[in-house]
Amino acid sequence: MSTSVPDSGVAPAARPSSTPALLRLDGVHAEVAGQPVLRGITLDVAEGEFVAVLGHNGAGKSTLLRTVLGLVPVRRGQVRFSGDDITRSPTPQIVRKGVSLVPQQRGYFENLSVADNLAFGARTDGRIGLDEIYELFPILRERRGQLVGTMSGGQRQMVAISIALMSSPRLLMLDEPSVGLQPNLVARVMEVATQVNTEFGITVILVEQNIEKVLQVARRVVVINQGLVQLDEPVAEVTADHIWQLL
Ligand SMILES: Nc1ncnc2c1ncn2[C@@H]1O[C@H](COP(=O)(O)OP(=O)(O)OP(=O)(O)O)[C@@H](O)[C@H]1O
Ligand SMILES: [Mg+2]
Repeated sequence: MSTSVPDSGVAPAARPSSTPALLRLDGVHAEVAGQPVLRGITLDVAEGEFVAVLGHNGAGKSTLLRTVLGLVPVRRGQVRFSGDDITRSPTPQIVRKGVSLVPQQRGYFENLSVADNLAFGARTDGRIGLDEIYELFPILRERRGQLVGTMSGGQRQMVAISIALMSSPRLLMLDEPSVGLQPNLVARVMEVATQVNTEFGITVILVEQNIEKVLQVARRVVVINQGLVQLDEPVAEVTADHIWQLL
């Protein structure tokens, strides 16, 4: 079942949930370069969920993730994480609370080695450290002294994901991590997102263009359109065709 964007511009109400939300956006408005992009996003994500966010180019998916992390200011509405109001919190504080983002482009430092890149995300008190990362991506252990700028696209993306994981987040947001990768690496990235969710118990929000892949890994799908949540359904209740029609 879909919920179309109402003419009034009012977002559909969040569905009632039995588990308290880890992340809660309530009527969030945000602008980019002076233009409204998010126009009242209301979204609840419970701890342990794996939510995919879809939407056409320019729909505001990256802006949504960046807003959660405090990189884009909230004009109206509220963002809560683990019950705390983080609407106007500075990004480092939001990261310390347990939010991490793999950005859409270049989530790594090309002129630093793998090990130095990983040190950037590191937290001494976290449950994810180098051992866990190297177990997840053995190639990064082998290449730990190599400059990231000299590595393949897939390996760079592994570094970007690893940096985000090194802060031992409770919520990992991935912004189109598989774009430009070969099919076998796309599959690996999806597998890693699933592993992170099931083995580390990290809540995952995955922005992705590949609808078929999304439906294989996520448990819930959210479609953003014109800065509003157009659809928010468990994966079991939507089909790829249905989503294609919305995009
Ligand atoms: N630096 C910028 N300067 C001006 N406008 C921007 C900038 N970044 C994004 N925008 C605009 O903000 C809107 C939302 O962009 P956003 O990057 O959030 O979309 P998206 O859904 O992530 O798109 P894509 O699928 O292409 O990544 C778009 O209309 C885009 O053109
Ligand atoms: Mg984007």
